[in-house]
Amino acid sequence: MPEGMKTTFGQKSSRDTKHDRATLRNGNPFVTLLFPVKGFLGTGAPFAADFNLVMQLIMGAALIAGVVFAKHKCYRAHGICQTTVLLVNLLMIGLVMWPSFHQQLRPTLPKVLHRLYYALATIHALAGITAEAVGLYIVMVAGTNLLPQWLCFTHWKRWMRAEAVLWSIVLVGGVGTYYVWYVAPFA
Ligand code: HEM
Repeated sequence: MPEGMKTTFGQKSSRDTKHDRATLRNGNPFVTLLFPVKGFLGTGAPFAADFNLVMQLIMGAALIAGVVFAKHKCYRAHGICQTTVLLVNLLMIGLVMWPSFHQQLRPTLPKVLHRLYYALATIHALAGITAEAVGLYIVMVAGTNLLPQWLCFTHWKRWMRAEAVLWSIVLVGGVGTYYVWYVAPFA
C-alpha cells in the first residue's frame, strides 16, 4: 500500500497519518454506522472489505448454481437465482464498492493509473459497472416487457455466456484488488 494511503473503512498500516485517521472518522457516515471497523479474515482489511469479499464469493457460487439450473432446464429457478445475485450485488456496490471507488480512486485518476494499487481497482471498477449494467439489461429483456422490441436481443446464450465470462473476470479482479490492498502490504 502506498505511503499514507488509507482504506475506506479502516487503516491498519503503521504508516497511517493523523490526517488519514481524521478523514476516516469523517468518512461515509452510513457505512461507518453500519459496519464495525475491524475485519474478521485476519488480513489488513476492514470489516466492510472482508464482508464484501465473502459475499462476492457466495454470489459467485450462486451464479454457478444458476447455470446448473439452466442446464437442467429449470429456467424459473435460473432466473430467480441470477436476478437475486444481481440485486444483492447492486446493494454491495452501493454500500461498499462505490463509496470506496468514490473516496479513494476517483480523486487520484488518471495520474496514478500506472500504479498497480490504483490501476487494478480502477479496471475492476469499470468492468464491474459494465457487468452489473449488462446483467440488469439481460434481466429486463428476459423477465420484463419494459424495453421496446428493437432493444431486445434474441441470442440468449451468447449474451448470458458473455455476461458469465465478464462477471468471472470482475470477480477475479476484485479478489486481486483485495490481495493488493489488504494482504500483500501486511505480509
Ligand atoms: C460484477 C460485479 C462485481 C464483483 C463480482 C465485484 C467483486 C469484488 C471483490 C471480490 C472485491 C474484494 C473485496 C473488497 O476489497 O471489498 C471487490 C472490491 C472492490 N470493488 Fe468490486 N465487484 C463488482 C463490481 C464493482 C463496481 C461496479 C465497482 C465500482 C463502482 C467496484 C469497485 C470496487 C472497489 C473500489 C473495491 C475495493 C473496496 C475496498 O476494499 O475498499 N466493484 N469487488
